[in-house]
Amino acid sequence: FNIPEPINEPVKSYAPGSPERSELQAMLKEFRAQQVDVPMYIGSEEVRTGNKKPMNPPHDHQHLLGHFHEGDASHVEQAINSAMGAKHAWESMEWEQRAAIFLKAADLLAGPYRAKINAATMLGQSKNAFQAEIDAACEFIDFLRFNVKYMVEIYSQQPPVSGNGVWNRVEQRPLEGFVFALTPFNFTAIAGNLPTSAALMGNTVVWKPAHTQIYSANILMQVFKEAGVPDGVINLIYVDGPTTGKIIFNHPDFAGIHFTGSTGVFQHIWKTIGENIFKYKSYPRIVGETGGKDFVIAHKSANPKAVAVGLSRGAFEYQGQKCSAASRAYIPSNMWAEVKKYLLEDLASMKMGPTEDFTNFINAVIDEKAFDKISNYISEAKKADGVEIISGGNFDKSKGYFIEPTVIVTQDPMYTTMCEEIFGPVLTIYVYQAEHFEEALELVDQTSPYALTGAVFSQDRYAIELATKKLRNAAGNFYINDKPTGAVVGQQPFGGARASGTNDKAGSMINLLRWVSPRTIKETF
Ligand code: NAD
Ligand code: ALA
Repeated sequence: FNIPEPINEPVKSYAPGSPERSELQAMLKEFRAQQVDVPMYIGSEEVRTGNKKPMNPPHDHQHLLGHFHEGDASHVEQAINSAMGAKHAWESMEWEQRAAIFLKAADLLAGPYRAKINAATMLGQSKNAFQAEIDAACEFIDFLRFNVKYMVEIYSQQPPVSGNGVWNRVEQRPLEGFVFALTPFNFTAIAGNLPTSAALMGNTVVWKPAHTQIYSANILMQVFKEAGVPDGVINLIYVDGPTTGKIIFNHPDFAGIHFTGSTGVFQHIWKTIGENIFKYKSYPRIVGETGGKDFVIAHKSANPKAVAVGLSRGAFEYQGQKCSAASRAYIPSNMWAEVKKYLLEDLASMKMGPTEDFTNFINAVIDEKAFDKISNYISEAKKADGVEIISGGNFDKSKGYFIEPTVIVTQDPMYTTMCEEIFGPVLTIYVYQAEHFEEALELVDQTSPYALTGAVFSQDRYAIELATKKLRNAAGNFYINDKPTGAVVGQQPFGGARASGTNDKAGSMINLLRWVSPRTIKETF
């Protein structure tokens, strides 16, 4: 097969004076000056219900970016009918045609739509320019291009033995029914990948994004249309989660869910699917990437500065709202003073404010609900015994949902903020006796039900080997001497186990295999 060999999309720097910075600033200004009217996309229709909901930048919640039209149960039904109506033509299309459509989408995002998708992510989800670039542009472009490579590898895999009058082959069929893509707010790339990966493999999709990501989802949909995704293949609806779920999971043509979001929602969905199992033609594919309580553990041999940088970047990029964010750390007593010094220095250099000022590293958290939840953890920590806040601790929602990067040090390794997913700019540190590395590894493994990402810092090969073995089941993505965020498609397939998901590694062949149902054919001549 001759397909373009993917390479990772180069990250633009947005340095002062660069052409990409000027273009992005102009786009931000244009988006701020206008108010968009965002429809749902069902089949060939742009659906405007008149039930308009506002979209505001989290860092400036009084500013209106526009409205989206919220739908109801009838629109979920329409979207399912549209997906089922488009199915036959889409799955009959040659795979090369489907690949070409999504490769064109990648090129549109790399070129004419790059500033648009980054500006929308910066305004709608409060990401700084760099965080938007590595997510909405580069990661999604990589998903689109690498998925085509993995698709071709899947289609090329055939039984090794045929001959002597027999031809054995495997046909990779799309699922029998429609796929439901239910996506989170925190990565535009994930929101785009969940519907497109299933669609690339020949499925038609109902896509429901988080309401806080609709501003950038609308741009993605424009890219898909311009790239040539036929009407009905991806249907984008804005209906509240429980209403959507009730109709989707009751439908006999429901064939699979591609989910990313919180553990509680996924577990509820799994249970609902189980309760409805007799209604479906086939066992639905259930793919979910869910919450995390991601760790950093340092060994006494580690470089303290590297540990501090790993913590400050790993915990506070995008205000700690990455599923992969470092949120609990285990630091040996011999180096705590030095790690603390470097960490506090680095935090002092991080400016907080709106995304349009490119010097701000920290922006706002996504909405008032998240602000209240995160600030409550901080308020409780201020009152708790044996717990000290050594940096940050202030929050203010008068203009935007701003929470200072907050570092908590606890004497209790089972303190609440060491165990629960907070999903905000809060890092909790436990200082352990430097000689008790093995016991600290046990704590890492047993403190939380999650197993998404984690990192060990050490210059000692024995300690690295010990941590790698002891923490075998504690993280789906394990980093040695690096922060636990920033997996790159094609380099570190991403996903977790335990309460963090089904570990079907986004942006990999493993994930794409979930969107086909193989048929084995034996032909005798
Ligand atoms: P969320 O679970 O609140 O929402 C995810 C999606 O589910 C949204 O579209 C939402 O509207 C919908 N939803 C919510 N309740 C529903 C219900 N009862 N029925 C049907 N749909 C429902 O998650 P979020 O706040 O958007 O994202 C943050 C969460 O996602 C965190 O827990 C984070 O760890 C996780 N996440 C995980 C990964 C990963 O790869 N493991 C990646 C990104 C985010
Ligand atoms: N690629 C994202 C990260 O690893 C999910 O942080």
